[in-house]
Amino acid sequence: MDTRRLNFCRGKVITDPQGRYSFITIMPGKYGWGWYTRPAHVHFRVTAPGRRTLVTQMYFSGDSSLGDHDPCGFCGSENPSQVAEPRAPSGDEGRYTVGGTSYTISEVAEWDIVLN
Ligand SMILES: [Fe+2]
Repeated sequence: MDTRRLNFCRGKVITDPQGRYSFITIMPGKYGWGWYTRPAHVHFRVTAPGRRTLVTQMYFSGDSSLGDHDPCGFCGSENPSQVAEPRAPSGDEGRYTVGGTSYTISEVAEWDIVLN
């Protein structure tokens, strides 16, 4: 078994008619090999009819591997528009229940995506 596959979470999210989306996931960790350490991030591939596909990554503020510390020189972690600001959940955001199991949400991040 290729255990690396167990470390990857993937999903497909479809926006509502207003283009809003949301999903719940685990906070990704940094990864790398030897000197190579990438900041924690989530990959996105965003498509919409009549629009060019956007492939990008969302990062999290406060990560010490952002920007100049990111060995990937073209991944955008130096770009403030790609860095989300996690915050504590408010109201009903703190709990998520599915299939009879309830989960505690520890952080919420909002990230707007604009397709040109
Ligand atoms: Fe990655």
